[in-house]
Amino acid sequence: MAVGIFDSGLGGLTVLDALQARLPDVAFVYLGDNAHAPYGVRDADDVHALTRASVERLWNEGCDLVVLACNTASAAALRRMQEAGVPQGKRVLGVFVPLIEALTERQWGDNSPPREVAVRHVALFATPATVRSRAFQRELAFRAIGVDVEAQACGGVVDAIEEGDLILAEALVRSHVDALKRKMPQPQAAILGCTHYPLMEQVFQEALGEGVSVYSQASLVAESLADYLTRHPGMTGEGSKSRYLTTGDPRRVSDRATQFMRRPITFQAA
Ligand code: DGL
Repeated sequence: MAVGIFDSGLGGLTVLDALQARLPDVAFVYLGDNAHAPYGVRDADDVHALTRASVERLWNEGCDLVVLACNTASAAALRRMQEAGVPQGKRVLGVFVPLIEALTERQWGDNSPPREVAVRHVALFATPATVRSRAFQRELAFRAIGVDVEAQACGGVVDAIEEGDLILAEALVRSHVDALKRKMPQPQAAILGCTHYPLMEQVFQEALGEGVSVYSQASLVAESLADYLTRHPGMTGEGSKSRYLTTGDPRRVSDRATQFMRRPITFQAA
């Protein structure tokens, strides 16, 4: 029917925006589990159970392909879900791999052994659960050697964004960047490893300084999904109208989404 996009809350809208620009003829069903956000402070079992329930909800909605537009879900639940097996004809993909491919300048499906790459010092900003999982470092180690990753768990940023408190979110981002710089004074690249953070991208860039390349997922995931759908056209689904579902209060979530994305977005109850 459509491609499903899942996030714990509003962050996945940054990915959806890029997907809609890159794939204007594809219909999407977005599901935000706002009633249970933030995921980043939950343990892995909890994130897995919540993610699984939401992905099943999207499969039942007719979405054969579901993209986890959430790093925390990708880190804590994706591998476990894939290893347990997904129903026939259904697929679930995460957002880590396109980012790591961009950082390591690899093409999709390049399974050659890990090699040295241009970037040596990488700062990773993510939720506490993503940092704890070490999923980013694990995926990177499959592809690159000699990259020093310093991870900063950015407690509080997702909550502040979900609450619409951008002043607090900005202050927290600056203090997390300061904390990172105390551990790694001169990162060459910074990964925004949470789909909520593109909403704060300018603040990250300003706090890090001009010399640091900031990698944000939205456009990388859009390119990667376009490539996937060319290879698996049957997963595109039909229809042309995107829909937005939330487990939270639809009016409140619609207001926040409209404020953040600067265009009217109307959510329905999931
Ligand atoms: N957007 C989610 C991510 O990419 C945020 C997780 C949360 O709810 O804490 O990690």
